Amino acid sequence: MRTLISFSVLLVVALWFVTRSPTAPSHLLTGQEVAIALELSPLPPVPPSPTNRVADDPAAARLGQALFFDERLSGTGDVSCATCHDPARGWGDGRRLAKAIAHHPRHTLTLWNVAYNRWFFWAGRKDTLWSQALAPFEDPREHGTSRLAVAHVVHDDDDLRSAYEELFGALPDLADGARFPADARPVAGDEEHPHARAWAAMEERDQALIDDVFVNVGKSIAAYQRRIVSRRAPFDVFVEGLAARDRDKVAALSESAQRGFSLFVGKAQCLVCHDGPNFTDLEFHANRVPTGEGSDPGRPLGISRLLEDPFNSLSRHADDGGEEGRRKLALAPMGWRTPGEFKTPTLRNVARTAPYMHEGQIATLRAVVEFYSTLENAAAPGEHTETILVPLHLSEAEVDDLLAFLASLTDETLDADLRRAPASARLTSQSN
Ligand code: HEC
Ligand code: HEC
Repeated sequence: MRTLISFSVLLVVALWFVTRSPTAPSHLLTGQEVAIALELSPLPPVPPSPTNRVADDPAAARLGQALFFDERLSGTGDVSCATCHDPARGWGDGRRLAKAIAHHPRHTLTLWNVAYNRWFFWAGRKDTLWSQALAPFEDPREHGTSRLAVAHVVHDDDDLRSAYEELFGALPDLADGARFPADARPVAGDEEHPHARAWAAMEERDQALIDDVFVNVGKSIAAYQRRIVSRRAPFDVFVEGLAARDRDKVAALSESAQRGFSLFVGKAQCLVCHDGPNFTDLEFHANRVPTGEGSDPGRPLGISRLLEDPFNSLSRHADDGGEEGRRKLALAPMGWRTPGEFKTPTLRNVARTAPYMHEGQIATLRAVVEFYSTLENAAAPGEHTETILVPLHLSEAEVDDLLAFLASLTDETLDADLRRAPASARLTSQSN
């Protein structure tokens, strides 16, 4: 009996040593899988943005934060960026399709880790974060306002105006209503629109002054959005554990989630497109998700709109003299892109950003994984077929494991002060 007890004690101690063994941080992952995990975390610091000279200026980020939550920057006085990008809803709106003043044909993209992206919008019709911010203001379905009206709000509000002028110098004197009408903007395809007529009546020099103000508003909002970062999910703690051979940290990922990780990088081939520490290859693919109304061509339209955009990274508004633009727009593959391609979204915090896909056509994460598993109702493959997409025939248990892994990419611990309108647009010691 006594030998049995001491044998058991010995066994327990031996087991303890084995499980604490520095050479076996996770008994579920192969050496190759561990190597892949170490490539996927940590998320590096936000990449530099040479086209935006205030990208990392805290005062610009504060002004941008005030503008992001300001409902006066809309035609109806009740829409802000946060109307659709609600910090409490994963910086989305929880809707299938977006809606502010009117319905929008696409699903709202999350802003989590948005500064890591190379292209913006589902079809990539913008190539910088700052020029992206200009589009919703003048979209009649979104803010329904104009660049003149935006400039007037900044000009007429003491707080916004002093924050702006400290960063960018004096605003033009917008009080002169003959030179600077209340509402004016170019309107593509509708020269008779009152906003378009008012814009056409302006001096070119004054139009340029207003464009500068509008761009500076966008650059400030971009500086703010660069802070919406999520990088400390259970998966990141797990990878830290793998690197440091720390069992407690490795335990941040359940065994089911670890099996899900193996599927994600292996048999399920998700990594082919959702690659890198932000779980996106930053490019466009046709994942054959069924489309509803379905006439959205995606990437081909995005490219042509980007090349025509007067605020693209080759324009005079890019602070690096067009250097990034020449590299990026030359890189933008043209010609062989086929309809049906959309940007690969990040999977960080994906468990919090339902519904999914560019039309919000899939309601739950389980249904997304089941779609990849069966490819049921998949859209017909285009000319450029993603041969990687084959029905995975996952078992129920494998679906659960993949879902557990996706849930382990959740970290919403962003500073509460960044999730609401600041007391002031100016960064002063009193207004933190
Ligand atoms: C009507 C709701 C709505 C409003 C208001 C709105 N957005 Fe969006 N946002 C969307 C939708 C929908 C998309 C995707 C549209 C598309 O791809 O064509 C989007 C996309 C984006 C993206 C691109 C993200 C990416 O990964 O490509 C950014 C950044 C963004 N919005 C920021 C803003 C900012 C800043 C404002 C305020 C100036 C704003 N949005 C106002 C609905 C809205
Ligand atoms: C061929 C490239 C490709 C592969 C492989 C791929 N995806 Fe995707 N994924 C995409 C694209 C592109 C979208 C957006 C498509 C759209 O909206 O039309 C997407 C969307 C998603 C979304 C919705 C995200 C959101 O915010 O709407 C999830 C979740 C997702 N994929 C998970 C996975 C998983 C899990 C796997 C492996 C089983 C996988 N993907 C394999 C390219 C791919």
